[in-house]
Amino acid sequence: MLRTHTCGELGSQHIGQQVTLCGWVDSYRDHGGGIFIDLRDRYGKTQIVFDPDVGRETLELARSLRSEFVISVRGKVAARPEGTVNAKIATGAIEVRPSELLLLNKSQTPPFQPGGMELPNEDLRLKYRYLDLRRGEMQATLQLRHRITIGMRKYFDEHGFLDVETPMLGRSTPEGARDYLVPSRVHNGSFYALPQSPQLYKQILMIAGYDRYVQVARCFRDEDLRADRQPEFTQLDVEMSFVTAEDIISLIDGLMARLAKEILGIDLSLPLPRMTYDEAMERYGHDAPDLRFGLEIVDLTDIAAKCDFRVFRATADEGGQVRGINAKGGAAAYSRKGIDELTNFIVQDFGAKGLAWFKVEDGGTLASPIAKNFSPEILQQISDRMQAEPGDLLVFVADTFEVSCKALYGLRKRFGVDLKLYDPKSKHFSWIVEFPMFAKDEETGGWAAMHHPFTSPRPQDIELLKTDPGKCRAQAYDLVINGFEAGGGTIRIHDPGVQQQAFELLGISPELQRERFGFLLDALAFGAPPHGGIALGLDRVVMIFGGLDNIRDCIAFPKTQKATDLMTEAPGRVDARQLRELGIQIRDPAPR
Ligand code: AMO
Ligand code: AMP
Repeated sequence: MLRTHTCGELGSQHIGQQVTLCGWVDSYRDHGGGIFIDLRDRYGKTQIVFDPDVGRETLELARSLRSEFVISVRGKVAARPEGTVNAKIATGAIEVRPSELLLLNKSQTPPFQPGGMELPNEDLRLKYRYLDLRRGEMQATLQLRHRITIGMRKYFDEHGFLDVETPMLGRSTPEGARDYLVPSRVHNGSFYALPQSPQLYKQILMIAGYDRYVQVARCFRDEDLRADRQPEFTQLDVEMSFVTAEDIISLIDGLMARLAKEILGIDLSLPLPRMTYDEAMERYGHDAPDLRFGLEIVDLTDIAAKCDFRVFRATADEGGQVRGINAKGGAAAYSRKGIDELTNFIVQDFGAKGLAWFKVEDGGTLASPIAKNFSPEILQQISDRMQAEPGDLLVFVADTFEVSCKALYGLRKRFGVDLKLYDPKSKHFSWIVEFPMFAKDEETGGWAAMHHPFTSPRPQDIELLKTDPGKCRAQAYDLVINGFEAGGGTIRIHDPGVQQQAFELLGISPELQRERFGFLLDALAFGAPPHGGIALGLDRVVMIFGGLDNIRDCIAFPKTQKATDLMTEAPGRVDARQLRELGIQIRDPAPR
């Protein structure tokens, strides 16, 4: 070992000991009385003080040190002089006074200081990820990720789960995104698909009798990226045989309680709360609502149907909905300009046609440019329904159910932040259950699977597959934390006939079923046990537990919003020879 201790380890109990530390020069100060260096590694920082009498050569070498040089120092641990103790850091009571200094490596002037207070620009951080990963926040997050992953593995081991690896080079599994394809050299014209999830392999493992499977699995999806989405991400993937949805949910309840306790010091009360999909859409406009605060959506369609305001009345008459939110205490927070901004936001982002609003004045009057369109009786009914109080801002969207959900969900989220309605450190865990099996595919007009095509309907809804698929509910459940979908799973179809029926409804022809899923249909016919499972988004869980707002900060080497790696510059061009071997010709190379 080149060192006796790490830079985060030494305290008063080591005073007087000879030690050797290695690390990076975090900061450098040359006082007349000596040279002060903060030496850093991933465990912490230690103050190193070179006395003027350490010897000319060492002193000169010490003077030549700069940020991020790698050094080793050997010397004595000493108490810091009175008045210079720093109680904020673990090593704040001591300093090391070296007799020897070794320069292990120099560094170019870094484009940003890993130990600096300012967060560098993200592109720079991603390009020089090795410097960014030296930052304390990144080190803390990767440590958190490690602890969460270990916690998960231990939990599943204790519950008798077997960790089985599944292939990266496989056949495409539909999870709703585009596949990343890998061309075959041996079979020109054929492609592997990187897994969007191990879904079909884990089902096959159930059919093979491995009734408790777990894997920390890498997944690949070529989809539009957002703050909580990466093209390459990690799932804690689980599958079980001979279980009900209840069993999976309570298994994950236990895992969440364990992690919340170990990592956050929070006691979760179990079972975690549950809400049906329909209720979530009605009350919050979304299937992953942030339940850290109230501001529920209120339906006013019945009142709108009898009012004189053209927009409301017409919407109600046409079978649309008029729904609103009481942004409690929000009247003062939004000026006319602020409300215009909210209006633009829902018009541009969600296709709403406008925003109707009232401010509740002292005495309870509803004030708004549109107030004159309503009779006093109707205004009173609106006020009562919204439980309006002076100082509140009431907002309304008249539209189809879908648009009003999206717009009010967006507004509610903004109110939550703007009006500081929750403690950003708090965590709220819940389940959303009883999802529809299918949603209308807007492009094709046909049905699309809400989860994936292998999801089982509720037993009482199997008949609806034939008669009214839109009403059919799935045995599906999503884990929602702080408004993020942290995980999702379902009980699967284990009857080949029902599976074929589901494929047919999704518009997958019998030929295509055979070609893409023949192996599954075959396997289901060889004694498939009832089974189900779930996958948690590990990166998202880390993001939420760490109180971060971007998934890129939870991944050592993430991709940008455009799915590139700024450090290695992937994706990159390849040799003409490699392309020839793969039988591939590039038609329109994108400009670099
Ligand atoms: P699903 O597609 O819901 O289910 O994915 C499960 C969880 O994975 C996370 N997730 C992502 N995280 C980061 N970036 C992404 N692009 C991304 N996409 C999904 C989410 C999500 O809840 N095979 C099924 C699971 C099952 O049925 O057992 C599946 O993959 O947190
Ligand atoms: P208009 O009659 O179109 O001038 O609209 C009057 C007010 O109602 C404006 O403040 C609009 O923003 C608002 N508004 C228009 N359409 C809708 C709608 N579909 N839902 C809610 N408010 C609307």
